[in-house]
Amino acid sequence: MTQILGSHEIQKAAALLKAGELVAFPTETVYGLAAPIFSSESIKKIFQVKGRPQDNPLIAHVESIDQVETLVTEIPYALLEALWPGPLTVILPKKSCVPNSASAGLPTIGVRMPAHPLSLELIRAVGEPLVAPSANTSGRPSSTTAAEVLEDLDGKIAAVIDGGKCTYGLESTILALFPSPIILRPGAIPREALETFLGQKISKADPKCEKPLAPGMKYRHYAPRAQIFLFDQREEMVDFLNRKERKRCLEIFSLPSDQLYSLLRSADRQGYEEIAIFCDLSVHNDLALIDRLLKATQ
Ligand code: TXA
Ligand code: MG
Repeated sequence: MTQILGSHEIQKAAALLKAGELVAFPTETVYGLAAPIFSSESIKKIFQVKGRPQDNPLIAHVESIDQVETLVTEIPYALLEALWPGPLTVILPKKSCVPNSASAGLPTIGVRMPAHPLSLELIRAVGEPLVAPSANTSGRPSSTTAAEVLEDLDGKIAAVIDGGKCTYGLESTILALFPSPIILRPGAIPREALETFLGQKISKADPKCEKPLAPGMKYRHYAPRAQIFLFDQREEMVDFLNRKERKRCLEIFSLPSDQLYSLLRSADRQGYEEIAIFCDLSVHNDLALIDRLLKATQ
């Protein structure tokens, strides 16, 4: 059985991590599954319990710029000072001390300083950066509550810190800076905020590109068991729902981005075979949300 820890039990969570156990923890985006970055054995366990492909690197979560300096050789100080802590992951050239198990053999590592006070407290208590993928079985929707973490990982990890529901409910934006800025994964920080800061347009990685720059983006993702159908026209969706032979179908006419993963998971819990989603303009304008929806339907 996986222990559920309260927000006052961070020291206990840190002790478990230092003893080589895995602990899930809340961030402002989604729950993460932590291991200390210099513990290759724990990192191996992360890949096992998630069923994560070996070539998919992990993000290092830090609590200070000093910690970034221990991991990478080039640091965009002004960018980090302006946008951290927050849901922005930056890909930077890694130092040789960063284990290959964390970076999946790449010469770079993604770093992010989460804004959630419990994330920062946990990293401080462990005393080194924590690598953390989203706390879900690979391919399933990410987890935005402790209960959702347990749906996938109960009995497979030592503990989960219950910090309530994540504010954003979608993962961080991943930005690579070299040779020129490019968004590898749209996320909780909108592209416009990054463009305003950098004073230049930023392109988005082509999802059909043969060798995706974020290895994780090539895998099926964020997917519930139910089949998803997306509609741009309300009338088309109503026609679809009215067809007599429909299987059990969850109807979603309004989709706030922080609810996406919870809705997909609850559809599975309730045994829906299909999910029909109306994508109005607000959905289309939310690059992170539309990216997750398209990946979930692939
Ligand atoms: O919001 C988030 O970023 C959450 C929370 C827990 O912080 N974490 C998260 O991690 O979404 P994960 O492992 O589920 O997704 C990490 C993504 C993957 O697509 C991976 O391929 C990409 O980041 N990535 C990690 N390191 C990279 C690198 N060095 N170069 C390119 N892509 C990288
Ligand atoms: Mg993930």
